[in-house]
Amino acid sequence: MVTMQMLRSAGELNRWRREAGDRPLHFVPTMGALHQGHQQLLQRAAQPRAGVRPRVLVSVFVNPLQFGPGEDFERYPRDLDRDQQLAAAAGADALFAPALAVIYPQGEQEITRIQVPASLQRELCGRSRPGHFDGVATVVCRLLALVRPDRLWLGEKDWQQLVVLRRVIADLGLPLQLQACATVRDRDGLPCSSRNRYLSPAERLRAAALPGALAAARLEAWAQPAGAEAERLIAAVRRRLEAADLPVDYVQLVRAHTLEPLQRCQGLSLLAAAVHCGSSRLIDHVVLMSRPPIVAIDGPAGAGKSTVTRAFAARLGLIYLDTGAMYRALTWWVQRQGVDPAAASAVAPLLEGLDLQLSTGEGDQQRVQINGHDVTEAIRSPEVTAQVSAVAAHGCVREALTRQQQAMGARGGLVAEGRDVGTAVFPDADCKVFLTATVVERARRRAEDLRQRGFPVPPLAELEASIAERDHLDSTRAVAPLLQAEDAVELVTDGMSIEAVIEVLVDLFRQRIPEEAWPGPH
Ligand code: PAF
Repeated sequence: MVTMQMLRSAGELNRWRREAGDRPLHFVPTMGALHQGHQQLLQRAAQPRAGVRPRVLVSVFVNPLQFGPGEDFERYPRDLDRDQQLAAAAGADALFAPALAVIYPQGEQEITRIQVPASLQRELCGRSRPGHFDGVATVVCRLLALVRPDRLWLGEKDWQQLVVLRRVIADLGLPLQLQACATVRDRDGLPCSSRNRYLSPAERLRAAALPGALAAARLEAWAQPAGAEAERLIAAVRRRLEAADLPVDYVQLVRAHTLEPLQRCQGLSLLAAAVHCGSSRLIDHVVLMSRPPIVAIDGPAGAGKSTVTRAFAARLGLIYLDTGAMYRALTWWVQRQGVDPAAASAVAPLLEGLDLQLSTGEGDQQRVQINGHDVTEAIRSPEVTAQVSAVAAHGCVREALTRQQQAMGARGGLVAEGRDVGTAVFPDADCKVFLTATVVERARRRAEDLRQRGFPVPPLAELEASIAERDHLDSTRAVAPLLQAEDAVELVTDGMSIEAVIEVLVDLFRQRIPEEAWPGPH
């Protein structure tokens, strides 16, 4: 029998926090009646990150504030001994099972409440469960204040809850990361849920029509690249649910991140449904993506973009597109042809019939070829570095290479790195990051890189001046200046290890793209 510490009071919780040392604390809040979905969250939460195994705390608290009148608060399954067993087997270090008075010292009616924005409660479950998400947000904030975790783990199954809590954490500036995991399903396709216990065997058979109807709609949506119509998808799902004798609460198509209703599939859409089955209310959804994700990583030279972007792309199974390498390759060709890099009229003819190819070689190394020459190494020389800005500033160059990059990205599924990827090349990228570092830090990295590659290393002050000068040129030029896209997240990498930067990128990606839609890395 596996045992694990059981914590009942805030005092016990604090003592455990202190005794457990300073390893990161990962937290999985639940209402108990644990199932495989919770176990998956716990297993994932317990996985080492950067070589450190986090401490994992699971809470079990059936929160009265999130149940409406006539809902199942009284009969919600409670089985703490079993929960303790399952949590320990999945890798939890302690279970926090507070009494009502620990969470709501003056009673639940007297607690200060969080009010979730109306826009996030108007649709889906918010429609038929008024006050539910305020109750969820309130208890989670209270739990977070007590536990003070570094990372909060939630399931994608309760998608609206996830969107709401992500917003609450952002709006209140709570200092933690939120990580969501794909829905875990039973063999019949039904998402694992504590409420599945209420189903009789006959109801369970009927209930499987819920994931079935949504999966069929997903197939239908896939077959329509221009964006399937909401009305048709919803009607088809309703027909299937009604045929299975599952009274429908709602079937809706909404934007996945804002939950606004959609007329047709667009970007990342969520087709969600709730049905009644016997005395239970069941929910499920599918995520529909118009194309595989595109990530845009922009930023100034020498911020270490290439190394982290390549590793990040490999980790997520995305294609890596180094747009800077394309400008460098062209610069190499311009130099080889003896053409003045600053003269647009001399550079323009070289663009005709240009054969510029990127391919992935050994160890995810990107190979670059121009007009039949492999220039992978040559484009990293100081001579090319010195003139790439001038070549890349010509409108004709920008146009030709942007067109090629857009063609390469037409089917999605890539991470593109450069200066104007999020603004000019892929303005509709799903996730945009502006990766940068201070001039001092970039000069230090550049010196290190030159040293390692056997080139002469100029004094740091000289490197700093030339980096600052290049930043100025790049951000003030008339054509495609280096600018942070409005919807990009700035990431300053001073003092961060490569692994730490990759982890932040994965977190940012995950805030935008559900695991269900693009699985891994685990
Ligand atoms: O998803 C749940 O189990 C609950 O809504 C949560 C997040 C534990 C809050 O009570």
